[in-house]
Parts: sequence; structure tokens; C-alpha cells
Amino acid sequence: MQNIVIKGGARLSGEVRVSGSKNAALPILASSLLCSGRCLYRNVPALGDVRTMQRLLDDLGAEVTTGSAGTTVVDTSTVDNVEAAYDLVKTMRASVVVLGPLTARHGRARVSLPGGCAIGARPIDQHLKGLAAMGAKIELAHGYVTTRARRLHGATIVFDMVTVTGTENLMMAAALADGHTTLENAAREPEVEELARVLNKMGARIRGAGTHLIDIEGVDELHPVEHAIIPDRIEAGTLLVAAAITRGNVLVRDCLPEHLEAVVAKLRAAGAEVTPEDGGLRVRAKAALKPVDISTQPFPGFPTDMQAQFMVLAIRASGQSVITETIFENRFMHVPELQRMGADIQVEGRTVIVRGPCKLTGAQVMATDLRASASLVLAGLVAEGKTEVRRIYHLDRGYDRLDKKLRALGADVRRSKGGL
Ligand code: EPZ
Repeated sequence: MQNIVIKGGARLSGEVRVSGSKNAALPILASSLLCSGRCLYRNVPALGDVRTMQRLLDDLGAEVTTGSAGTTVVDTSTVDNVEAAYDLVKTMRASVVVLGPLTARHGRARVSLPGGCAIGARPIDQHLKGLAAMGAKIELAHGYVTTRARRLHGATIVFDMVTVTGTENLMMAAALADGHTTLENAAREPEVEELARVLNKMGARIRGAGTHLIDIEGVDELHPVEHAIIPDRIEAGTLLVAAAITRGNVLVRDCLPEHLEAVVAKLRAAGAEVTPEDGGLRVRAKAALKPVDISTQPFPGFPTDMQAQFMVLAIRASGQSVITETIFENRFMHVPELQRMGADIQVEGRTVIVRGPCKLTGAQVMATDLRASASLVLAGLVAEGKTEVRRIYHLDRGYDRLDKKLRALGADVRRSKGGL
């Protein structure tokens, strides 16, 4: 099992390029199932969840080839299987986004129920409610969901809550349905908007992606596409926080400021200087950081995927910060590990109160989920002495060599097989 060992104290400086977005790449790779032929994707991040999606597409019979410098070609003309097996889905719940495309194009799908994960139960009732409204017969048995539909038809679907992959799944299903579909209370995340861009390039007729109301006019066929994946706004945010907490001076290249407004606003409120430069963002933090209150919200609010990282900034800030997690029911798994490093954090349900500035001391800590592991790496950057983050496969699921990027900015970070 790989670990990451960090020796704290370095001030990050220099420049770093953000990789392609994990949460854009996953549904876009799945959208290749809506057509027959060769789709070429560029700027695909090299990380665990993308490799899992590539394996899943291969399992479904597609021919997946990954080239140099982040290109992936998916040839779906050989797709002959509609079952996403438990072994793959259990490692990546986002596999559920093959449900819509398979049902829409092949008239059936059998996908293992994703089950919960460290951060919550992660149900897919909204995905299934929408597919049923579009005429799919849904069966839940033996831990799988099976869908059948001669041809999906348009429907008006109102989400009970904002769901990113729910919006993506149903937008893809509606693209090939017979008639008009309206998605109300849809997710507005940039990754949803980017998926709609790809689908429209494939011949779909989607309007309103990026707003709460998405209109889709179904078409009979979609064609293969070439597309470059947008930068990962959560990796960019993680790097910005790393620079701010180490009082560094870093240019984060290839990030889209319009995807990071809530994160940048909180960094500025904490006293960091964030300025657009050269198609990216430069962050400087010379003075002591100030406390910030955060409540995670669907886009364009503060992203839940940045909550754990910001908690480390709150630990370093001079004062009390209140952080509320409104999206997932169990996304404070990083708290006990940060407390072991010396953080003063009080948990009250879905809210934590962080009192700073706290001097963190290096320790052996355990990663539990993707963004929790990122926060432990960030804590290691500012802790006194050495921190060993174990079960780092959680980090590698969602980041494209984050340790390499931090090392290039001057951090003392290395991988090890165990032991400080
Ligand atoms: C996406 O997950 C992201 N993953 C998550 O990123 C992100 O945290 C999340 O959106 C919220 O922004 C991908 O895009 C691959 P949701 P998703 O459906 O779509 C409840 C990361 O770290 N819900 O928007 O699975 C659900 O339980 C990952 O990169 C239902 O109740 O999240 C949650 O409380 C983690 N029923 C809330 O809605 C449903 O049918 C939002 O979940 C669907 C969702």
C-alpha cells in the first residue's frame, strides 16, 4: 500500500498546470455510448477513477485506447454488453452515469447499485425516477438496477434535490429520447454545462445547461466527437489553498476563474491575494490568514469538494471559522485525523467550529476518501515535522499526480511504501 510522506515548512512558489477535470471526464467518456464510432478526447486526466471508467467501457465491449499526453480514443462500434458489474461499480459510484446512455441507445442496461461510500449513502432514486418518467421499466434485484425501454420518450422531470450525476444521466438519456424533455431544478455545475457542449457537438439539441432549467429535444442518432476536457476546478482550488496556507506565491495555470468564483471569494476573505494572470490565477499570501465561515452549496455556491481543503486553511487562520456541510451527511472524516495533528475542531452535526491559528505537528494519518486525503496532504505541508498519509489510493482516484505537482512547487513530498 502506498503512502505519501510530507515534511512541512516549505513556502510554495513557481507555477503549475491544472490537469483535465475528473468530474467532467467521467460523464463525457460515458457519453461515447450514445453513438457508434470513434470519439477522441484530449486532456484526459491520468487518475484512478478515469482508468476505472475506461475499464468499464472496455467491459461493455468498446475499444478504449489511451495515447500519450492525455488522449483517449473510445470506439463504441463494438459495444455488445449492457452490464456494469459490481466489482467495477463498487470502486467508483460515478459508473452509474452509463445507465442513461445504455438505456437510451441499447434499450436496456444492468448496472450494479453503487452503494454508499465514506461520505454518504449516495442514493440514485432521482436518476431512476427520471428514467421511469421517460418510459423505462425499472427493476431492482440482487444489488443491480435493470432498465428496459423500447425507446425512451420525453418527459418533464423535477429533481427533488440538485444532483450532478442525476442531471448528467438524464440529460444523456433525453438526448436520444423521442420528443421533448425538461429537467427542472437541474444541477448548474460547469461539468454539466461541459457535458451538454459535448452532446450538442454530437448532434444533440440541448438548451439551458448551466441553469436550473434544461430543455432537450430528442434526436434519432448522435455521431462521434472530438473534444478537449476542461481543467479541473477542484484540483485548481486545492493548489490555490496549498499556496495560501504555506504563505507562498504560485501561478496556477489553465484554470477557469469563472469556475472558481466562490472559492476565490473565500480565499480573498481569508486575506490571500488572488489575481488573474496568463490564463490562470496567481495566489499570494504574506500576512496571517483570517478566519472564514463556509456553507457548502450546489454550484455556483461554495463546492462541497473544497470543504476538507478549506478546513486546513481555517486551522491556520487567526480566529474562529464555522464550516457547514449541507450536501453530504458524513463528509467530516478528515476531522479526527486533523485533530490528531493538533487541530482545534469541534463537530456539531453537519457543522464544525475551527479555532486557529493552530500549530499542527506531523503524524501518521489515514486517508478515508478523496478530498479528505487531499486535506491531510495540505495539513502535512504546514505541520511541524513529518506527516505520513496512508491509503493514498484515495488521493490517486481523483488527482493526477498531486504530489508531483506540489514537489515542483517546492514542497518536500515523496511516496513511500510505509514508515516515516
Ligand atoms: C457529484 O457527485 C461529484 N462526482 C461529487 O464529487 C460531488 O461532491 C457531488 O457531485 C456534489 O457536487 C462526480 O461528478 C463524478 P449528487 P454526485 O448526486 O452526482 C443526494 C469528488 O470528490 N442524492 O450531486 O454523486 C446525494 O446523496 C466527488 O470529486 C439523492 O438523494 O452527487 C447528495 O446528498 C465526491 N438521490 C446530494 O443529493 C439521488 O438520486 C448531491 O449528490 C442523487 C443524489
